[in-house]
Amino acid sequence: MTKKVNIIEALEFYCDNGLEEIISEKPQNYFAQKDVVKKKVIAKTANDFSQKISNSVPEKVEIKTAEKTQISFVKPIFSTSEALSTLAQKSQQNNQDMAIVKKVSEQDSIQNSIQGDQKFISLNEIVAKAKKLAGNSKTLAELRSAIENFDGCNLKKMATNTVFCDGNPNSKMMVIGEAPGNHEDLQGIPFCGDSGKVLDGMFRAINMTRENFYITNVIFWRPPGNRRPTDEELAICRPFVERHIELVNPEVLVLVGATSMTALLGITEPISNIRGKFMDFSPKFLSRTIKTFTVFHPSYLMRQSAKKRLAWIDMLNLEKFLQQF
Ligand code: URA
Repeated sequence: MTKKVNIIEALEFYCDNGLEEIISEKPQNYFAQKDVVKKKVIAKTANDFSQKISNSVPEKVEIKTAEKTQISFVKPIFSTSEALSTLAQKSQQNNQDMAIVKKVSEQDSIQNSIQGDQKFISLNEIVAKAKKLAGNSKTLAELRSAIENFDGCNLKKMATNTVFCDGNPNSKMMVIGEAPGNHEDLQGIPFCGDSGKVLDGMFRAINMTRENFYITNVIFWRPPGNRRPTDEELAICRPFVERHIELVNPEVLVLVGATSMTALLGITEPISNIRGKFMDFSPKFLSRTIKTFTVFHPSYLMRQSAKKRLAWIDMLNLEKFLQQF
């Protein structure tokens, strides 16, 4: 107890004799100051001391004459009200700074969006570019090269190869599937994987090989994970597909699977309602009508072998139809 009292007395002594100077950067010249008001401090513990000591220093320090500029120490905050007002000022300054930062970042983002807008190409513009390139292609070789050099479809970024065609371009029948899978992507040939083997088997059943038909897809690059192509991807590839049909100019189109059917005919009905029917397709890009026949996709048949019977009937009808040519 005695010890504690002694410590408090000692602290009071130091306080009275200018200990607060240690919290200033420069010593204070009390001789230059007038009417210094000092308060006595009772600090209960050493921890309280630095706080208590702050109450002991003049709340208002008047500095006279020329010395005012010389005594420019960083004044510590000695009173709660002063601290609060400094905090308030700081916070106001911060708010102003934040407002400036916000304004600058808003300007930046406007600037970025302007720059972004300049880089951004709309779907319509990409499709227009695809149409122009497709329209300028006068031969299948030119069309292939236009597609290979076209960068408007994101699928191309992940693809190994552009998958353009296989088979005989002079045949009467053009077969159009969905999109390349893994094997097709690696080899650059449509329907060269497992589903291709099934499809070849279906045509072999009616004595046809790739020498007798021409084959392509509605998408030229493999969608990642063999997912269904998006409407945008289909729209971007479509001008090339239309030009492809125009250049091959077949008597009959065989659409393989629902995606190909919907992409070309715009029919969203279930494929089971459409398969096996000869339809007259009169697209704007052709000045004539073209017979179109839809069949189940071989990968669907691999999963649903019960449907092979219907697919077999469809192939026999196709064979009969082709006899007229
Ligand atoms: N499935 C398709 O639709 N096309 C291919 O080329 C391969 C698999």
